Amino acid sequence: MSTAILGIESSCDDTSAAVIVDGILRSNVIAGQKVHEAYGGVVPELASRAHQQNIVPVVSEALRQADIKKEDLSAIAYTRGPGLLGSLLVGTSFAKGMAIGLDIPLIDVNHLHAHVLSHFIKVNPEDKTPEFPFLCLLISGGNSQIILVRSMSEMEILGKTIDDAAGEAFDKCAKVVGLPYPGGPHVDRLAAQGDPKAFSFSKPHIPGLDYSFSGLKTSFLYTVRDRIKENPRFIEDNIADLCASLQTTIIDILLDKLQKAINQTGVKDVAIGGGVSANSGVRDAVEKLCRRMKVRAWIPPRAFTTDNAAMVAIAGYHKYLNNEFSQLGLPPFARVSI
Ligand code: KG4
Repeated sequence: MSTAILGIESSCDDTSAAVIVDGILRSNVIAGQKVHEAYGGVVPELASRAHQQNIVPVVSEALRQADIKKEDLSAIAYTRGPGLLGSLLVGTSFAKGMAIGLDIPLIDVNHLHAHVLSHFIKVNPEDKTPEFPFLCLLISGGNSQIILVRSMSEMEILGKTIDDAAGEAFDKCAKVVGLPYPGGPHVDRLAAQGDPKAFSFSKPHIPGLDYSFSGLKTSFLYTVRDRIKENPRFIEDNIADLCASLQTTIIDILLDKLQKAINQTGVKDVAIGGGVSANSGVRDAVEKLCRRMKVRAWIPPRAFTTDNAAMVAIAGYHKYLNNEFSQLGLPPFARVSI
């Protein structure tokens, strides 16, 4: 008999459902939420309302695309946290209700584990996956971490941000120059036409493998504020160069610590994950670094970088194989480490 796992993700502003059958991805449906664009950031109350509207059609569509009936599911995996509590409650309640209704096991998944395990999503049976132990640079709107991954469940954070995440640096700086939310993809697009050496912004000097991005954000803000006094059209005239210089600085900060972590651990496999790993510059730079250091680079398909349920379903699939099931009374958690 096949093992069919339905994954449900609702930690922030994407409602997603995916089906994995015997370890192979059959569907991954994502409904984004445009409603937040007008506010320059995710509004938690609006996010949970949109999840309520999206969850039924998204799950139905994931089952339809996977060509599977709900009665044929083996278990339901859902994101327990971290994330926005109101958003998590929608996916959690839906997953519990469906598991009770179908009388099948429930599996809670840590959202950060799921991002790391996105490298084990197989679209075809012959798809390759990283070998343990490996390093994962997890960079998103809420996290910037270097994680040593020893197994599907054993993960150790070697370094993390002490203030803002890399995605926040992209989004907040993008806001300074009037780009829509989320700014990361806009910076990525504009950076391709700019000079990465046009401006220099401050980089942190903190020991170990931790990150800091708040100084860069301030340095970017002050540069724009000062130069605009000389030229009121400074942003319009220099937008591509500003984006290219910002992106290069973020990449330099990220890769400096990643290189140290590779040297310290001696791992042979290095992966990236999280929304910021969709960035073209980050992807190129990590590939180059790994080639130079003679380690294997694992760059995920863009569809698996931002929040998606395929990563929740694959994390759930491996827990299912280990008989790791969850109690129905388990509450969602807004904050938790890996
Ligand atoms: O993992 P994710 O979808 O969810 C949260 O952590 O909420 O990451 C979202 C982050 C945002 O900050 C967004 O600007 C950033 O990922 N992002 C990018 C790109 N695509 C998404 N940043 C830079 N370049 C991109 N192409």
